[in-house]
Amino acid sequence: MYLSKHEETMLEGSEGPAVAKMMELLVTLGDVFGAGKLIPVESAHISGVSYKNLGEAGLGWLREQADLGAEVRIRATLNPAGMDMDKWVEMGVPTEFAEGQKRVIDVFKRMGVESTCTCTPYLIGHRPELGDQVAWAESSAVCYVNSVIGARTNRESGPTTIASAVTGLAAFYGYRMNENRRPNVIVDLLHKPVSTMDYSAIGYIIGKRLGTTVPYIRDMGNPSTESLKAFGAAAATSGGIGLWHGENVTPEADAMKAYLDGLDKITIGHGDIIEAKEGLTRPLSDPEIVLGCPHATLGELKEVAARVKGRNMNGKLWIFTSRGVYGEAGEYIKVIHEAGGRVYRDTCMVVAPVEEMGWKQVATNSFKAAHYMASHGLETRISTISELLGDRR
Ligand code: F3S
Repeated sequence: MYLSKHEETMLEGSEGPAVAKMMELLVTLGDVFGAGKLIPVESAHISGVSYKNLGEAGLGWLREQADLGAEVRIRATLNPAGMDMDKWVEMGVPTEFAEGQKRVIDVFKRMGVESTCTCTPYLIGHRPELGDQVAWAESSAVCYVNSVIGARTNRESGPTTIASAVTGLAAFYGYRMNENRRPNVIVDLLHKPVSTMDYSAIGYIIGKRLGTTVPYIRDMGNPSTESLKAFGAAAATSGGIGLWHGENVTPEADAMKAYLDGLDKITIGHGDIIEAKEGLTRPLSDPEIVLGCPHATLGELKEVAARVKGRNMNGKLWIFTSRGVYGEAGEYIKVIHEAGGRVYRDTCMVVAPVEEMGWKQVATNSFKAAHYMASHGLETRISTISELLGDRR
């Protein structure tokens, strides 16, 4: 890989051992993927934050980097942790886990990372521009930033996003290059999606059928922000979709029309959605109702508040969101709390230690959440929000 004089000196240690180590990581990664050079990136979004996934080994690696002097030089935000950093006792998180989680966040803070702890950084002001090169992890956020915003990132990992944050650089390959952003299959939707759950289902089906391709999707209707985030999250979960184009929906779709001739086509109909839903649905007796995967928007909290106002959810309704959105949603959160619902920040149903918290069954409108919870051995049900909470709005 070509390195500029300055990059060579960074690799040799001119900016300290932490930068040298991170340069080594980026160069190795670039060599594996045949990158010709490194390029500057505007921002990073770092995954691998929950103590549930990191454990002491992961925490040790992070601490080692901080001890070597790793410090971010571009904006860097964090993905969800394993608990609400203030309300973990109320959540039922074990103390030992909480202590480990606090140590993880402290290490990231030492490196200068913003402890946002959300998978929707684009909802709280970390929103790149069309064409920006960034280094983001968290597959749902990658799908959103690449497709809906039109910025450019590969599906990065925790360590590579830290390397980019510390050096300000990323290897130039994959979705960073024009030619790799072109679609290679057309998806025609035969059933007009109506609910956020419909979009989540379609994303899940596309991921399952198409793996890591770049789909060009026609007849998507007019998806809301909520539907767009749910769609990408599901597509990235069942397959490895990191970029998609939606006709009349995403910013690069028009330019991609020039590359559609001769592409294979698949169709998705109502029957496929029912089948996908049934695949993750079991008869449940007393489920936790879990919403906010990806993290809930202000609009979602408003909708939930309207549906549960004056009812008693008995602690069985859990909604996960970012601190930024939580801070704006005071009146809705008050209503949800009064109805016996719970709203937590910094974490989610997948990265919190929910097995240790006693969860056995979950009902959700998110295919991503259901997919992971089922793979962790919980019983799941997929439903629309009106099926979960009733029709009052
Ligand atoms: Fe976000 Fe957790 Fe879902 S990180 S996308 S809420 S699994």
